[in-house]
Amino acid sequence: MMRDLTQSCVLAVLVSGNGSNLQVIINKIESGKLDARIACVISNNPNAYALIRAKAHAIPAIVLENSSFTSRRDYDAALVDILQGYGVELVVLAGFMRILSDVMVNAFPNAIMNIHPALLPSFPGLHAQQQALEYGVKFSGCTVHFVDCGTDTGPIILQAVVPVKQDDTEETLSARIQMEEHRTFPEAINLFVEGKLLVDGRLVRIQS
Ligand code: GRF
Repeated sequence: MMRDLTQSCVLAVLVSGNGSNLQVIINKIESGKLDARIACVISNNPNAYALIRAKAHAIPAIVLENSSFTSRRDYDAALVDILQGYGVELVVLAGFMRILSDVMVNAFPNAIMNIHPALLPSFPGLHAQQQALEYGVKFSGCTVHFVDCGTDTGPIILQAVVPVKQDDTEETLSARIQMEEHRTFPEAINLFVEGKLLVDGRLVRIQS
């Protein structure tokens, strides 16, 4: 469904850790470069630094711990309740270390975006940068994609490429990839906000 383009897009950002991508999104909004509003930040990790970043910008910061729920679907049902309560239009997974079930995916069809630190479909799942190093690829990067019920399998929106250097460690490669994440993720969110993303099966067509 096309969103109402006369209104700022209502986002929720889901996190588990540092939140550097969250920070970039906040900065884009505050500098007027992204016509959106972050209604809430939700973390499954009570110690995520991202929660402190949210509070520093007066954004409601909510903790939903894994251990409070007995199943993935119950967790997601609670998540859906919160997100719908805030009228969220786009759910942004910015380092959210949980797989979503059909409960979340069906509640927000083509309206959940994830960033993955590799060129999908290569190296899905955890430790993508280390997987790339061990495989010996000469280029890696990041992928922004819509989320389906698989692990990092949804339709690809944008990708950016970085070289892999011979002496790279997981840390140095991750840092190079993150520079591209911080450019690519807000760009993909902006395309959604402007109503320019058309999903046709696996293909995401970008309207000019
Ligand atoms: C990023 O590398 C992203 O690709 C992965 O989780 C990391 C989150 O980093 N999904 P940050 O918390 O935004 O700094």
